[in-house]
Amino acid sequence: MNTDNLKEQFHRIYGSDKVEPDVFFAPGRVNLIGEHTDYNGGYVFPCALSFGTYLIIRHNDDSVFRFATSNFPYTAEVVLNGMPEKHGNEWVNYPLGVIAQFMQRGITMKGFDMLFSGNIPNGAGLSSSASIEMVTAVALDELLKTGINRIELIKIGRAAENEFVGMNCGIMDQFAIGMGMANAGLALNCRTLEFQRVPLHLGEYAIVIANTNKRRELAGSKYNERVQECASALEILRKVKPMVDLSAMSMDEFDQHSSLIEDETIRKRAHHVISENNRVLLAVDALINNDLVTFGKLMNQSHLSLKDDYEVTGFELDTIVQEAWKIEGVVGSRMTGAGFGGCSVSIVRHDKIDDFISTVGANYSRISGLTAEFYVASIGDGAGKL
Ligand code: GLA
Repeated sequence: MNTDNLKEQFHRIYGSDKVEPDVFFAPGRVNLIGEHTDYNGGYVFPCALSFGTYLIIRHNDDSVFRFATSNFPYTAEVVLNGMPEKHGNEWVNYPLGVIAQFMQRGITMKGFDMLFSGNIPNGAGLSSSASIEMVTAVALDELLKTGINRIELIKIGRAAENEFVGMNCGIMDQFAIGMGMANAGLALNCRTLEFQRVPLHLGEYAIVIANTNKRRELAGSKYNERVQECASALEILRKVKPMVDLSAMSMDEFDQHSSLIEDETIRKRAHHVISENNRVLLAVDALINNDLVTFGKLMNQSHLSLKDDYEVTGFELDTIVQEAWKIEGVVGSRMTGAGFGGCSVSIVRHDKIDDFISTVGANYSRISGLTAEFYVASIGDGAGKL
């Protein structure tokens, strides 16, 4: 991305007569395995992508936040006067939520002129929203010299989403974006926030993301419904084991006590979470031992669990993943992110990537009537100043 063009655009919108603006970047993320475990204190294994959100930003003396984006015409001006209020369903809620979090922590706020520019497909499950939150958090931290540490900035990003936007997400996305490193996955324990950067030595294989172009309706309640179902399972299972979250229960313990959960749906949700945690641990071990075949099988099992137990895949994601499984040179494929549409992630041998894209693309279009888009992922660094 040529940020000179963005700076020129910034000057056209906000004037070029003052000091030069600063440029920050936060990536999107793709999760390799460990889905819907983060808000259950479980394990995840995401990585940061090389595409993301740029923020061109400059302090103003007007005590006003001005928001613009190069992606579409919407702009907003918010006077710095008490806590900011929510703007319908607009994207400015992501930076505004972060601003509110800084203010709640007693940081003295200033006015800023901001131009955002993103190249993550929106609503595809690659965390465009967490990317906007984290680029804002990192920029405000630096420009206001708050001294807030990176983990706290990540918590600020999540809290903005939970408290301002109203989506009860876990910490995975903001963590991957805040802590990612080029060519490494982040094996993260979402309860303790202990993590390990695991090099992605994929050899003759690559990570290929396929966007179903079936838009997700995230805040559209289904995600929060799953969070609630897990809370119900936890409440019941606590009768036999006092624990802070579902991930504190082993698969053996769950097999022993699962009949306590009378509602089959709730039981299946818990089964997914507990079995998915095991898969993440096994997958990370497999990767460390250069065993991509096992890693891929665990990805496939993860998809089936998300389909049958967690019921977040849907026709389009199931179709694109099932078509991927048929291609020679694919070691694993699964949905990634929250589900309900969005993207799949596959591990594909380099010499089969063209075949993968053309065959899966054609079959997916024929079956679903939608056109998929494919990206060979390059794994980049976390958020920072450019
Ligand atoms: C979304 C949320 C994350 C996580 C995933 C599912 O991306 O923002 O916190 O729960 O869904 O794994």
